[in-house]
Amino acid sequence: MNFDKVISREGTHTEKYESRVVKFGTEDVLPLWVADMDLPSSDAIQIALLERVKHPIYGYTGYYDTYYEAIQRWMDKAHNWQIEKEWIAPINAIVTGLNLSVEALTNEGDGVIIQPPIYPPFYYAAKNHKRKLLENELKVVNGRYEIDFKDFEQKAKVAKLFLFCSPHNPTGRVWSKEELEKLVSICKENDVLIVSDEVHADLVYVGNRHIPMATLKDAKNITVTLNAPSKTFNIAGIVSAYAIVENSSLRRRFHEIFKRYSLTQPTPISLSATVAAYTQSDDWLKSLLLHLNENLDYLNQRLRKMPNIKVMPIESTFLLWLDCKALNLDEQKLADFFIKNAKLGLNTGISFGRGGEGFMRLNFAVPRVVLEQAMDQLKEAYDRLLLVND
Ligand SMILES: Cc1ncc(COP(=O)(O)O)c(C=O)c1O
Repeated sequence: MNFDKVISREGTHTEKYESRVVKFGTEDVLPLWVADMDLPSSDAIQIALLERVKHPIYGYTGYYDTYYEAIQRWMDKAHNWQIEKEWIAPINAIVTGLNLSVEALTNEGDGVIIQPPIYPPFYYAAKNHKRKLLENELKVVNGRYEIDFKDFEQKAKVAKLFLFCSPHNPTGRVWSKEELEKLVSICKENDVLIVSDEVHADLVYVGNRHIPMATLKDAKNITVTLNAPSKTFNIAGIVSAYAIVENSSLRRRFHEIFKRYSLTQPTPISLSATVAAYTQSDDWLKSLLLHLNENLDYLNQRLRKMPNIKVMPIESTFLLWLDCKALNLDEQKLADFFIKNAKLGLNTGISFGRGGEGFMRLNFAVPRVVLEQAMDQLKEAYDRLLLVND
């Protein structure tokens, strides 16, 4: 697969491109924000979709065995997790799953723990349903994000649910077994249920290993796992995700809520794409990870020459978390610097809430030439800024 070819997304109503004016006030930015890739999905997925579309009837479709088997295969192969078909509860999107979990597993006013800075829908999932938001802010210790367990323990005493992001967006952390065990032990002791969003689990860099939370002995009965082929195989627009729930009473609560909102209907193409992703795209993923690694090396090399923009260590995701505090700009000026001076469309750190101040998030799942242009633009703006400040 050629990940270096620039493929125009014009005419496809792509949010990353079409929403530039709304988001940045101008179309004149290179968009490196929304978390999808400007890279082609696998041949197998393209062929499976074409095959299905060729059939001219697109009526109501049911979940079929090969769909469940594909998810089982992937969990086993990629994460050494042997799951039963019955544990899988399909949902259309992960964010839907976050909201459904809050509704199914808690009541109004209950405490819900999240770990900011974090992907904004985690906030909304708690707030949308009038739950009490408990923010266990991640802390940078020796240049790396860590969990403040003391604070987590305090919050767990008044919480009913923990919305966990593993690996974590935007910090890029892959949580270690020790960290997971500590979290589980605190949750268990305090009767806190866990919803573990593991959508970035397959995009992990050398030296790190993602461990599904629910594979921990003490976690399996209190954990709902949310996952999808969307990020890994760049099919977010196809809308296909699932929950894995081993505990039957938790699962019942989930299924009840699916029925309440009639969320029991897949689209035929979402199933075809999921099966092709999870059964025929292993080599594609290997090449993608190679490409992302090379992009990372390139970015590190370029950003070393801009020492006031510090790259936070990344263990997973295609989203680089940049510490821009040394630029000494307030939030508005920092956003303006990237949009107006560097002409780059990134996510601001503060949009991820507490602890995101002074950071920017850069999506590097693009062809190399796009990154080259982005880094040229940034370097020029950076040099001008430092000259003015001198
Ligand atoms: C942690 C996390 N969860 C969920 C999503 C979105 O998933 P979906 O499109 O399936 O709702 C994202 C997208 O960036 C994400 O980073």
